[in-house]
Amino acid sequence: MDVLQEQIAYYRARAAEYDEWWLRQGRFDRGAAANAEWFAEVDHLHAAVADFAPHGNVLELACGTGLWSRELARNAQTLTLVDSAPEVLAINAQRVQHPRIERIQADLFRWRPAARYDVVFFSFWLSHVPPAGFEDFWSLVGDCLAPGGRAFFIDSLDDGRATARDQAAPTRRRLNDGREFSIIKIYYEPADLQARLERLGWQARVAATPHYFLFGSATPMPRTL
Ligand SMILES: C[S@@+](CC[C@H](N)C(=O)[O-])C[C@H]1O[C@@H](n2cnc3c(N)ncnc32)[C@H](O)[C@@H]1O
Repeated sequence: MDVLQEQIAYYRARAAEYDEWWLRQGRFDRGAAANAEWFAEVDHLHAAVADFAPHGNVLELACGTGLWSRELARNAQTLTLVDSAPEVLAINAQRVQHPRIERIQADLFRWRPAARYDVVFFSFWLSHVPPAGFEDFWSLVGDCLAPGGRAFFIDSLDDGRATARDQAAPTRRRLNDGREFSIIKIYYEPADLQARLERLGWQARVAATPHYFLFGSATPMPRTL
């Protein structure tokens, strides 16, 4: 199977156990000290998102089970969520309520926006975009933004404790029942990512927490005539 199709299949099969990673449960429990670091860094991410202040018409790409959609729902005027996995979107729908919410089941490598948004948010998605698709993905983000729009993203740093205790390799994922899937997983260095985005025409700022996460914001650079 093509790895992008296998990646879709993996997240469909993982939907019901996905949050164990975020909550450091089961095979993701790395002991009290590492878990405490993780949760402190998650708090740091929440503060960074609050500082960014997502509001207006907000689009979340690869929204998942709603761990961040519920934060975005607090101040969004409208919230549009895209993910390829119906199982994941069903969990998201149970978790996240908003008077003006739309969930779209779509493959982001084929999907095109029908509207423009004030904010485009994606967490733990850029690392699943193949290197050859990096520029196309950022071009999609640009196409999703209204004039003055802003992007915010969160992703993984390369720390082995972020993953399951029994994971063989970053690109080989195991479920609780032992099934294995191949996926894309690319780790970025914050400074390198920022420089790459600037070369692509973004004003970007990428930072990191001490161990586990990078996060950043980007806006298209104003065109000079
Ligand atoms: C690592 S999870 C991140 C979920 C969420 N953003 C979060 O922070 O918890 C990746 C998500 O991408 C979705 N996904 C995988 N391949 C996709 C594709 N080709 N198009 C759209 N979504 C995809 C999966 O279903 C999954 O929900």
